[in-house]
Amino acid sequence: MSRQRKKRKPAAKPQRREQPDQGKSPAAPPPRRRGGATAHAILPAETLAAELKPEPQTRTEEKIPRWWTALAALAFGWALYYLAAYGGGFHPLVFTRGEWFADIQARAARSQQADPLAKGRRLYRRYCAVCHGMDGAGQPGQFPPLAGSEWVLAPGTERLVRLVLGGLQGTITVKGLPYFNAMLPWRDQLNDEEIAAVLTFIRRNPAWGHNASAVTPEQAARLRQETAGRIEYWTPEELEKIPADR
Ligand code: HEC
Repeated sequence: MSRQRKKRKPAAKPQRREQPDQGKSPAAPPPRRRGGATAHAILPAETLAAELKPEPQTRTEEKIPRWWTALAALAFGWALYYLAAYGGGFHPLVFTRGEWFADIQARAARSQQADPLAKGRRLYRRYCAVCHGMDGAGQPGQFPPLAGSEWVLAPGTERLVRLVLGGLQGTITVKGLPYFNAMLPWRDQLNDEEIAAVLTFIRRNPAWGHNASAVTPEQAARLRQETAGRIEYWTPEELEKIPADR
C-alpha cells in the first residue's frame, strides 16, 4: 500500500453558484426611488444623502384646515356686508347722532307749533282720505265732497260732530248734488281729542280755502255723552232739525 493511495483526491472545487435572478428578466428597470435617485451608484455619498433628506415643508395651506379658511372668508364677507348696510356711509350725521338728534327734535317741536292742523291732517289722511280724497273732492255719485261742503262749513258744529260720531245714512245733498249711501260711525275709532283734531282740520284746511271755527275736545266729549245710547245712524233729515248754528 503506497502512501500515494492515501493521498486524498483534491476535493472538487465547488462550482461558483450563479446569483439567482429572483425571477426577474435582466431587462426589468431597477426599482424606482423617490426623488428620482435611480443613479445611486454613480452619485457621491453626500449628494445622495442630501437628496434623500426630506424636503422642508413649504406648503403652509396644508397646516390650516379648509373649514377654517372657509369660515374666515365667510366672516370677512359678513363684516363687509355689515359695514355697507349699517355703517351709514361713515357720514357725520350717523356718528355724531347726539347733536343731530337734538336738532331734529327742536325742528319737530317748531313745526308742530307752526302747524296746529298737523295732527288733524295726519288723522284725516289715515281715516278719511280713502273715501273723501286728500283734496276733499270725494267721489262723484259715491262719496260726497268735504271741500266746500255746507255740512262741514256750517256756523255750528253739532251736526258735524254727531254725524261723524254716530254714522250717517240716507240721501244727503252736498253742493247741490244728492248722495245716497252710508258712512260708518267713528265713535270707537277716534277719541275726543282726535274727533276735535280731524273736524278742526276739515273746517280750517287752508288748502280747501276753509276758515271756519275749530271743534274742541270738550264739544266732542259732551256730544259723545249725550248720544251714548244711540245705535241708529243719523239721517240728514234728523240732523237738519238741529239749528245750523248750534
Ligand atoms: C268708507 C268711506 C268713508 C270714510 C272712510 C269716511 N266717510 Fe264720510 N261719508 C261717507 C259717505 C258715503 C257719506 C255720505 C253718506 C250718505 O250718503 O248718507 C259721508 C258723509 C260725510 C260727511 C257729511 C257730508 C259732507 O260731504 O259734508 C262728513 C262731514 C264726513 N263724511 C266726514 C268724514 C270724516 C271726518 C271722515 C274721517 C274720520 C270720514 N267722513 C270718513 C263715506 C266715508
